Amino acid sequence: MYKIAVIPGDGTGPEVIREGLKVLDKVSKKFNFSYQTKTFPFGGSYYLKTNKTLTDEDIQELKKYHAIYLGAIGDPRVKPGILEKGILLKLRFDLDQYINLRPVRLYSEKFCPLKDKKPEDIDFVVVRENTEGLYKGLGEFQNKSTPQEVALQISYNSRKGVERCIRFAFEYCKKRNKKKKLTLCGKTNVLTYAWDLWERTFYEVAKEYPDIQTEYTHVDACCMWMVKNPENFDVIVTDNMFGDIITDLGAIIQGGMGIAAGANINPEGISMFEPIGGSAPKYTGKNVINPLAAICALAMMLENLGESASATAIEGAVIKVVREKLISLSAGKMGYSTSEVGDLICEFIS
Ligand code: IPM
Ligand code: MN
Repeated sequence: MYKIAVIPGDGTGPEVIREGLKVLDKVSKKFNFSYQTKTFPFGGSYYLKTNKTLTDEDIQELKKYHAIYLGAIGDPRVKPGILEKGILLKLRFDLDQYINLRPVRLYSEKFCPLKDKKPEDIDFVVVRENTEGLYKGLGEFQNKSTPQEVALQISYNSRKGVERCIRFAFEYCKKRNKKKKLTLCGKTNVLTYAWDLWERTFYEVAKEYPDIQTEYTHVDACCMWMVKNPENFDVIVTDNMFGDIITDLGAIIQGGMGIAAGANINPEGISMFEPIGGSAPKYTGKNVINPLAAICALAMMLENLGESASATAIEGAVIKVVREKLISLSAGKMGYSTSEVGDLICEFIS
């Protein structure tokens, strides 16, 4: 019996999670597993009502679950940073979800903005460090609000944090068993403290994986290669900030935010699965948002829980719906409503 904590969150989050749960119900019956869900109210409205984002007691409560299924966090009524830091980043940090795993996979060339790229050309995974770097929140203002003002924002990189991320990436690349190539994406030519540590650690750990080919690319060049030759990538490992940026680029080359999913993983603890597109406030409540990213996040959750057959069935259904039904992956343009897309997935599963 899987216990799943559901945080629909803000904006279109509840609509896409609703479709995800529909699919969960479907696969649980088909593949014979049982689960319980509990819905938590965290998000913008809850914050405006209670002045609370997420407390330490809430974190303790969430630790009783096997996984967290998250819709979206972000509300235009709340000052930027409060909900993101108070909920999303607090979950990632306090649950020590030190890996943010973001697959970049093109399901249909119809939806690729890159000329002449086919599904076999765009199939790689970004392993983003998820608890350190610039996201650690270290820094200060000096001489605030004066002409001499300086704002410091420090990137924190611990040997332990970097090494566990790199080890995860090597292991993942080995298990994935495709091109067996791991690319370190950094900035050794300018950020000579952080990336010296990353690069040294990368090549040290690489010695334990003689079967994995390694390469290094600067993050700016990485963006260029993701557009020009995405087929050369297999697994990319990078820090929190670069990972944030390159995975939005990754999302758009796989067809956009409507399809991009991610997993916040603590390999020894509780992990959290989310569509990476955000709360899309302007589409809220219209039943037009694409639920496939949330459905793909559900597949990642099931894979992580050990329900591989369900995950594979969902992915197969997503491929069919994308290839045979949808005329766009964007909100309002799919040719189907949010709930119809969820229904199509369920139909294709059976
Ligand atoms: C993401 C998002 C978050 C991040 C924001 C909402 C804090 O952009 O999951 O990529 O920067 O990590
Ligand atoms: Mn992002």
